[in-house]
Amino acid sequence: MEILNQQTRSDVHVVNLQSEIVTKPSPGMRNAMHMAAAEVGDDVMREDPTVYALQERIAKLFEKEAALFFPTGTMGNLASILTHCPERGLEIILGHKSHLFTHRQGNVAQFGGLLTSVVENNEDGTMDLDKIRERIRVSDDPHFPYTRLICVENTHNYCGGKVVPVSYMKKVYELAQEYGMKVHLDGARLMHAATVLGVKPAEITRYADSVNMCFNKGLGCPVGSIIAGTSDFIKIAKRRRKALGVDMHHPGVLAAAAMYSLDHVLPKLSEDHIKAQQITNAIKSAPQTVVHVNHETVETNIVFLTVTKPGVTAIQLYGRLLQVTDEERRELGEGIIVKTIPYSDTLIRLVLHSGISPEDVKKAISKLSYVLQELS
Ligand SMILES: Cc1ncc(COP(=O)(O)O)c(C=O)c1O
Repeated sequence: MEILNQQTRSDVHVVNLQSEIVTKPSPGMRNAMHMAAAEVGDDVMREDPTVYALQERIAKLFEKEAALFFPTGTMGNLASILTHCPERGLEIILGHKSHLFTHRQGNVAQFGGLLTSVVENNEDGTMDLDKIRERIRVSDDPHFPYTRLICVENTHNYCGGKVVPVSYMKKVYELAQEYGMKVHLDGARLMHAATVLGVKPAEITRYADSVNMCFNKGLGCPVGSIIAGTSDFIKIAKRRRKALGVDMHHPGVLAAAAMYSLDHVLPKLSEDHIKAQQITNAIKSAPQTVVHVNHETVETNIVFLTVTKPGVTAIQLYGRLLQVTDEERRELGEGIIVKTIPYSDTLIRLVLHSGISPEDVKKAISKLSYVLQELS
């Protein structure tokens, strides 16, 4: 068995399901970026028309007073949280499987001196309201910090791309209001949630004081994220953004890609959910004993598999999907590599996105079925 290097072997078909961020700008998007290049201005000097048009468009779409463009969702979330919690020692509540808690190195502690109070996420991405309530600390007793913010994620990545119901978002928002607290929505994949629910994004964002949405999570942009909230919130977030190091000169090319994605990629987002369903169904019906699909229903573009066979790990499965054997090549008629991400010893993630064609889905299914049967 040989480990193939994609760069050195051109006769291997690679299906990259690691993340949405692997998508490359489509020719249409590149063209929009190219055209925008003619009219970009310096954002620092407040002159970039495309960025302003994008910010206004998103503010309207999310029914918020203002919006602000960021290079990444990580920074958009961080600037939002630092804006809600301006003093060191304040506390935020978030889920134990939230991206903010699991994948960002505790940046709110590093840069804001904030405490994180972690509540268990349920399978569906929610946190029990009673458990949230128990964590809220608003008393003036100097032994305790003040809890200022609840963070929710929708769709919920680590919970298998689950769409968190609007009715739940409303309850969290009302709970926060009861204690004079705020809610921040990590809506990196907010558009996936709105697509599945068949609602305007504003139906979801109305139950959050601030929201971050990523243009590189399924919308096919190379870079870009946006936050929205009240005008006062955005004014302060802009100061935080600057302090975090953002001086964007001529970011209009990136905003043009984002504009393009809203017009051309967003309307097709449900196709990614269908592709995820096809892969899920194929794995569920394959005669194999290696993995099970984590969730009863796969709602959006993310599929988590748990490796259940003793002696097989997620890393092994991940590694095997990157390899091509001669026998497999003979049987499948070609060499196929499927790139995934192992999340733990037993967990593996597959993400569908606009860079995956129906042909890619078929090939990914062939490879997955072959490997799962081989390891069974
Ligand atoms: C739920 C969620 N929030 C935020 C982020 C961070 O976005 P970015 O990669 O643009 O920094 C990610 C990235 O994977 C994510 O999955």
